[in-house]
Amino acid sequence: SNPAGQFQATLTAAPRTVQFKPGLDTVVWAYNGQTPGPLIEIYEGDVLEIRLVNQLAQPTTIHWHGLPVPPSQDGNPGDEVAPGAERTYRFALPAGSAGTYWYHPHPHGHTAEQAFMGLAGPLIVRSRLDPLAGMPEQHLVFSDLKLGADGKVVGNNDMDWMNGREGQFVLVNGALQPVITADGMQRWRLWNMCNARYLNLSLGGQPFRLVGTDGGLLEHARAITQLLLAPGERAEIVVMGNSEVSLQALAYDRGMMGDAPPPQTLTLAKVTLSGGATRPIPSHLRQITPLSPGGAQKRVVFSEQMNMAGGVHSMTPLVNGKSYDMNRVDLVSQRGVVEAWSLVNDSDMDHPFHLHGTQFQIASRTRNGQTVPEPFLAWRDTINLRPNETVVIHVVQPQAGPRMFHCHILEHEDRGMMGILSVV
Ligand code: C2O
Ligand code: CU
Ligand code: CU
Repeated sequence: SNPAGQFQATLTAAPRTVQFKPGLDTVVWAYNGQTPGPLIEIYEGDVLEIRLVNQLAQPTTIHWHGLPVPPSQDGNPGDEVAPGAERTYRFALPAGSAGTYWYHPHPHGHTAEQAFMGLAGPLIVRSRLDPLAGMPEQHLVFSDLKLGADGKVVGNNDMDWMNGREGQFVLVNGALQPVITADGMQRWRLWNMCNARYLNLSLGGQPFRLVGTDGGLLEHARAITQLLLAPGERAEIVVMGNSEVSLQALAYDRGMMGDAPPPQTLTLAKVTLSGGATRPIPSHLRQITPLSPGGAQKRVVFSEQMNMAGGVHSMTPLVNGKSYDMNRVDLVSQRGVVEAWSLVNDSDMDHPFHLHGTQFQIASRTRNGQTVPEPFLAWRDTINLRPNETVVIHVVQPQAGPRMFHCHILEHEDRGMMGILSVV
């Protein structure tokens, strides 16, 4: 009964000078002058029309991470907008797509650089029948910044290309260690937009409720005290309480190689929870029907090949033994047919698997041959794979065309840990 709305905006990607360190100029690349980029907030059923104006010195695209947009509108590598040029992306958000998404560039070989320079922003699709409607909401976008002594954003070194880049600063909504206040119960949406940093989030040990993942609400709220968000992942949580706590990223060992420093705990923000109005979270948030596979089975193996040349180690990240080739189709799926994919991490470090164009469900997980229980159904587009872990997902692609699947450590993606799925 609600007519579809139109949402129109222009996103101009351009360099901008800011000051993170007093007196030192830092050039970032921003959408409309903002890092993170502006929030795009729309309803299921809306038609989105975004004009991208490229004022960078390199080609770019906008990819709509997690959304079921037509492949021609999804900012694929190869569909690049040249420096000085522009294009418009246009697509509709189907019923059932309410969730927490983001947008970022995906040009061939430049995704990591454009993301760490600041080009990434949040996108929320809302439902008109949201069981948590009316609960005050806050948005926490996490990004990672690496500056040289001169205040400039430094490029990637060999270690960054091998392990994925981590900076010395983790920013929340573009700010270093902000103060966040929550009066009463709040719904928080969280985005890990870091190129490679894992965020094992904790609110000083205080319990909070997990209510949603990448693709929207869970069936039921779950009380937790820690939440691991791999690069690219999002979550919705409900926080409440009456205390001052730190929002921390607890030390998490993702198996970095070489002489990487040991994992540390970082304080991301100071949080004041000030009691106030609470209300029961509805016991049933949403119905998630399990996908039942009927189609072909697929296997995706992430591995890395170590090379030694002139006394220097380097690593080539691979998918099914190969490096990304934009002229090669790696897998073929039938549109509308549910498939089971086995995702295998045959390497010594964690890799977050991401697939474009749809949301999927985790069916099972085994690590070192042992079953790891997967206690709840959820819609996801990015999941972490630990070393020696195999995760089986159930997945269906609603539209025909080329889709990317890759590691969301963006340095690995740019170095070839990506393949093309052709949906026919
Ligand atoms: Cu968030 Cu292919 O990317
Ligand atoms: Cu994506
Ligand atoms: Cu990786």
